[in-house]
This record gives sequence, C-alpha cells and structure tokens, in this order.
Amino acid sequence: MDFELKTLGTAAAAGEKCDALVLLVPAAFKPGKDALSRLVAQARKAGDLEGKPGPVLQAYRAEGIAARRLVLAPCGEGTPAQVRSAVLAAVGALRGSKARRITLCLGDAPGAAVRAAVGAVAEASYVYATTKSSAEGRKLERVVIGVGNAALARTAFAHATAVVQGIELAKEWANRPPNYATPTMLGEAALELARAQGLECEVLGPKEVAKLGMGSFMSVAQGSNEPLRFIVLRYNGAPKSQAPVVLVGKGITFDTGGISIKPSAEMDEMKFDMGGAASVLGAFRAVAQLKPAMNIVGLIPSCENMPDGRAVKPGDVVTSMSGQTIEILNTDAEGRLILCDALTYAERFKPRAVVDIATLTGACVIALGGVRSGMFATDDGLAEALLAAGDAALDPCWRMPLDDEYADGLKSNFADVANVAGRAGGAINAAKFLQRFTARYPWGHLDVAGTAWKSGSAKGSTGRPVGLLVEFLLGQQLEAAPKPARAPARRK
Ligand code: BES
Ligand code: MN
Ligand code: ZN
Repeated sequence: MDFELKTLGTAAAAGEKCDALVLLVPAAFKPGKDALSRLVAQARKAGDLEGKPGPVLQAYRAEGIAARRLVLAPCGEGTPAQVRSAVLAAVGALRGSKARRITLCLGDAPGAAVRAAVGAVAEASYVYATTKSSAEGRKLERVVIGVGNAALARTAFAHATAVVQGIELAKEWANRPPNYATPTMLGEAALELARAQGLECEVLGPKEVAKLGMGSFMSVAQGSNEPLRFIVLRYNGAPKSQAPVVLVGKGITFDTGGISIKPSAEMDEMKFDMGGAASVLGAFRAVAQLKPAMNIVGLIPSCENMPDGRAVKPGDVVTSMSGQTIEILNTDAEGRLILCDALTYAERFKPRAVVDIATLTGACVIALGGVRSGMFATDDGLAEALLAAGDAALDPCWRMPLDDEYADGLKSNFADVANVAGRAGGAINAAKFLQRFTARYPWGHLDVAGTAWKSGSAKGSTGRPVGLLVEFLLGQQLEAAPKPARAPARRK
C-alpha cells in the first residue's frame, strides 16, 4: 500500500479521481461554498451527521463529487485519538467494497492527527495472507492523505509511514504460525531486514551462545528440536563513541510452558510469545527509514519452550551468564530466563539505556488488560520518556512499581534466586527477577502480554509497541554538538 501526501482543500477534494473519498469532519468544520462543503452542511442540518467519531455517513455518486463513494466521518474535536477512531470507522466501512484507491481529507489537522490517520488506515486495512492459499491480499493500493498544507505535514507523514512499515513487519512475524516462525526463520528475517535496510546483523547459534555462558537461555531451549538463535542488530546513526540505546525482545516462538505445561485451551496463542522480538524488528525497520542521529542495538534471544526428555525440570538449577544461579521452580516462567542472559550481554555495549519488551506475564493482562502495556523502570527520566512516547504514539503504557519487597518471594534455598514467586503481583515479581541483571545501566521493561495481540474473532498481532518504541528512540537523540567557539555569540 502506497501513501501519498498532498495539499488538498475541500473544493479540490471534490474533484479527486479515486474509488472513495473520505472526509474527516471535526465539530469546528466551517463549510465553504464547494460541493463537498454543501453536502456536509445539509447532512448536519438534517441531523444525519453526528459530531462524535464512530458512525459514518456514506453516499454513492454524490452530486459534484468525482469519487464514486463518499464517506463523511465526524471526528469530534479532532484529537489524535478521535481521528484514529474516525478513520478506523471510515476505512472499516469500506472494507467489503472494491475501493483500491482512496483519498482521505484531513483539513488543517496538526502533525499528530496526520500520524494517527495514517496509522489507522493501515490498521483498518491490514490483512494477513502468508499462509492462506486463497491469497486475498490487502484491497487498498493507494492512499492519498489530503491536508491543508502538505509542507507543514511532511515530517509527521514520514514518521507515520515509517512506523506503519515497522508495525506491519512486526505483525507479519508475530502472526505467522509457529512452524513458519521458528528461531531459525526469525534469525533469517533479521538478516534479510539488515541486508535490505543497511543495518548490521549477526545471528549466534547454540555453540556461540554456550561459549558466552548463557546457561539460563540454553536451559529453556534444551527441550526443543529447534536450535536457539541469538540475534544482534545494530543501527549506527552517530559516531561509534556515542553510547547506544539497547532494545531486547523476548523471542519465544512457541511457549507450551515446558514440563510445567500449560492447559491446551488457547495454547495456539502462545505463538505470539515472540511479540517482543517482532516489535524490535519492527522498530529497526522504521528507524532504518527515519535515520535518527543515534546508535541503537537490538538483542533477540529466541527459542521454543517445549516439554521433552531433555527439557529442563522444575527444581533444576542453572547458571546464568551473569554468574548468578537460578532455581527453575516453574518452566513456564521462561521469558525471564532467556531475557536475563540477553540483559547481561547488553552490558558490553556500555548502553545509555536498555529497554526490554516481552509478553512476560499473564498477571500483567489481569492488571492492565489490553489498553496499556505494563512499564517498569529503574530511572525516572527513562520512565517519563517511555510514558510520554506511548501517549504520543497512541500506544500507551503505565508505570508499575519496583519496590524491593516484591523480590522477597524470589528467594531460593538452592540457588541465588528462584524464577518464580507467588501469584500475587506476578508482573512485578517477574520485573524484580529481571532487575537483578540490570545493575550496570538505566533499565526499562515493557510487559506487553496484554497489548501485543488480540484474542477471539479479531485474533492477531497488534504490532504494539512499535509505535511507542520508535517515538521513544527518536526522542533519545542527543542535542547536536554545540557550535564551535569561533562563531561569535549573538547579542541582544
Ligand atoms: N508467555 C507467558 C505469559 C503470557 C500468558 C502472556 C498469557 C499472555 C497471556 C509466560 O511465559 C508465562 O507463561 N508466564 C507465567 C509465569 C508464571 C508461571 C509465574 C504466567 O504468567 O502464568
Ligand atoms: Mn511461559
Ligand atoms: Zn512465555
């Protein structure tokens, strides 16, 4: 799907040749004298066009409109969230239609609304196709975004289309069935992404990981016939001397629970347990396009969690790369076991900050549902940046506590730490476990167990938190170096 940005007022929009014209109508919309404005004014007068986003008004071959279909979509005060709802409704209404080329008119919407609109078009028109034989792909081919002044919206538009590419890459890999997204395939996908986008990538296998001493990660992988992979991605947009931000994504391509096996109902959804990994790939896809002036490292430990004669057992003690020994009391708490070694590996980059992204706990789904991701941070500035990035990207998170008392349950009589504590505060217990491996840098943790995918009839990856991550990363660019002293300081 191609997006194009254009300066387009209502008069010009009426003449646009496309399959469907969508006009967002904010409450403050002032109708002009053109055909489109007249229709809006008439619909309002008749009470057929509400102010709140949601319901849309559709017309066919409307007078004075070149497009066959016309969709009028109210968007309230035009906040980014309202624009998102309105566009989801409008593009959703066209879903069954033959419309391939649409024009979406936003008027004088600010950058944030342009971003919301582009994201919502992509979301409403996304179709998974990879493993369907009757490959009915996406219907939309071309989307023109019409705004009052295209020059002013250029940056927001570029950001939005890059994020869409990233989200769609994340969705593709997260949605793939587990036999089409093995650790090996995920490693190949990372190499391919790096090749196409000019990134650096290295994929380690069992031998190299053993040499690094990642005993915790290896213990999760040992019950599976699929060999583990450890993916290292690098984006270099600043001098080598500049400390990078490191992203770490949980890449469990299927989580049966291992010997502590899960119930079979909905177990298929545990193919999404690499949603964190997918979001790291997606963020790198977007960053490669936007080219921020900074360095970024992506780490993805990836394996399956399977029960087997060789599988790790409850009671086994393993030695992590950090040297800390871990008593595995529940093999279903595997995410933290692969992440802890990746967090130790991250130390070698002397990072400015490390953020891990993981579908880590069912408890986080209970705490926050599917609206906000759980966010933990050892640094207040980092927490604020993640929170603000989530809000700006309409991909929100919520800060959770890290009081030391929450770690009490992780005590073990046979190792330095146990991998589980009681059920109460489960998302926090998991974060406290991870925190033990992050002493050397500011650390953030996103538990996306509730937000990375949807269940039921809408089952599928959401691509979250790619939007949050890209917003966060762009905000982490350091101020440009101060001008050399030769330039005389300007006086009043
Ligand atoms: N991948 C799951 C977490 C999960 C469960 C995400 C359900 C989304 C929906 C994780 O590996 C897991 O199994 N966690 C356990 C931890 C427990 C054994 C302490 C959980 O949440 O039940
Ligand atoms: Mn598990
Ligand atoms: Zn898991």
